Amino acid sequence: MLKVAIIGTGNIGKIHARCYQNNPQTELVAVCDMARDKADAFAHQFGAKAYYNVEDLLKHEDLQAISVTTAGVENGSHHFEPTMQALEARKAVLCEKPISNDIEQARAMVAKAKAMQVPFGINLNHRFTPAADRLRQLQNDGELGDVLFINMALWFNNPNEPTIWHHIRALHPHSIDVMRYFGGDIKRVQCFMEKAPGRQKMWSTFSLNMQFASGAVGHLTGSMDMSWNHPIERCEVGGSKGRGIIENVYQRLEWMPRDKPEKMVLENGIMGGMSHFDDTFTRRINKFIEQVEAGEPLDASGAEGLAAQEVIEAAIRSHENGTVEEVPQITK
Ligand SMILES: NC(=O)c1ccc[n+]([C@@H]2O[C@H](COP(=O)([O-])OP(=O)(O)OC[C@H]3O[C@@H](n4cnc5c(N)ncnc54)[C@H](O)[C@@H]3O)[C@@H](O)[C@H]2O)c1
Repeated sequence: MLKVAIIGTGNIGKIHARCYQNNPQTELVAVCDMARDKADAFAHQFGAKAYYNVEDLLKHEDLQAISVTTAGVENGSHHFEPTMQALEARKAVLCEKPISNDIEQARAMVAKAKAMQVPFGINLNHRFTPAADRLRQLQNDGELGDVLFINMALWFNNPNEPTIWHHIRALHPHSIDVMRYFGGDIKRVQCFMEKAPGRQKMWSTFSLNMQFASGAVGHLTGSMDMSWNHPIERCEVGGSKGRGIIENVYQRLEWMPRDKPEKMVLENGIMGGMSHFDDTFTRRINKFIEQVEAGEPLDASGAEGLAAQEVIEAAIRSHENGTVEEVPQITK
């Protein structure tokens, strides 16, 4: 049984808490938030002890794993400090996305985990679905062949525009991670961005071209100017032996082998399928715990979270300079 704690008691912290409560391998013993009333209410709801700063939490609790579910600018500027403190204390950390909105901080976080030899994962939950597992299995079994292209889209509605880069930095760690999951490292990017009518600040829609290190090509459409009433995500992976499409994160996988006229369709079932988007958190967190317990390298590691963020920063440079930009590669 692993003793776990949560730092940051917002809505996303609550989803993590429910996952730990439902996981037979974990006991949620403590929560931490500098907003005392929030920490107290959260601790009461989940039967855990409340702390109001990370030093006290680490001093008084014997923890094996910590979720960092803080937020901040571009939903990531508050992740750095608690993550560094927890890694320094040799606790396994699962940090929310983006790893950080500041690339230097993101690099420092990954370097710290490596130096301390502590498991460090990012909640890149969009790839933790049965549909993605099945397509990955087809890839591992050689059915997909060589990946030739990936077409990805992630779109919904968010009228807020807290910063000019909020859309790409806060949301697209997810889409880029799914692309990297199937295509591997991304080497070069070229990005065009626009603001929807009425937008004052944020680049709310973009088109991002990519070249993978393997030579495969990719494209990502991102938008916060669409709708929640329709599918929010689509991933199409074209291989030399077949083509797979994951519709709407987990709803359906279509598989079209190149040498057969029949198509396989795997629907999300009402019995035993995923009941809600939050199930992606359950699957991701359960995998994190399983791998921490087994002492295995983590799926969706800090280094992978950093790699996605490096792509985002290169896309921003490309948009600003009108250039094709190299993506700094992460040493594993
Ligand atoms: N994976 C997903 O699908 C998904 C979806 C939405 C949001 N998120 C991410 O989840 C994270 C949390 O989002 P939220 O909406 O719950 O945030 P929130 O702002 O509601 O809550 C964050 C909490 O962290 C606390 N906090 C900040 N710094 C702290 C520190 N050093 N010590 C203790 N407490 C601290 C704040 O007081 C606040 O209560 C963000 O990073 C966001 O990007 C992930």
